[in-house]
Amino acid sequence: MLRTPNLILVGFMGTGKSTVGRACAATLGFPYHDTDMWIVRRARMPITQIFATEGEEAFREREREAIRHLTQRSAIVLSTGGGAPVDGGNAALLRESGIVILLTATVEAILTRVLRRANRPLLACDDPESRVREMLGHREPVYRDLAQATVDTSDLSSPEVADRVVALYRAMST
Ligand code: S3P
Repeated sequence: MLRTPNLILVGFMGTGKSTVGRACAATLGFPYHDTDMWIVRRARMPITQIFATEGEEAFREREREAIRHLTQRSAIVLSTGGGAPVDGGNAALLRESGIVILLTATVEAILTRVLRRANRPLLACDDPESRVREMLGHREPVYRDLAQATVDTSDLSSPEVADRVVALYRAMST
């Protein structure tokens, strides 16, 4: 029997993957999972502390482990950390395990959303705007190559984004 595909959300920090993912999971009646949440539970420390004590490479290894584990499931909603698809192995597992939807937002919207909380170690720098632009330049093509559909979240509320994502998932999974 065919497995029910996962609904996988990818995109840069601050594009609403977690909030939208939870709403989609509630609508679809699927369990919600999040690579960052999985890592935090396993490591028993917040992401900022993992970066500070173990470094980014150790975080990326934890992220690969999370993706190997979570992509074995079916019929879940999975939100991924913004850097996860940069790893080719992660991208392949995500693609195989479900329908990948990319959430995007303007640099302005991203900055407004992420700077509200001091929980993004990669943007804890003097010039977060340049950092976001530089990272987006590198990641945007990776996201576009992986995703089967894109929703621009800049001017939409989270429930509106979730409605569009669920509609795309339903159309693409039948
Ligand atoms: C990261 C994004 C974060 C988190 C970590 C690294 C990235 O997740 O995984 O801080 O490399 O873009 P969100 O995209 O959920 O903020």
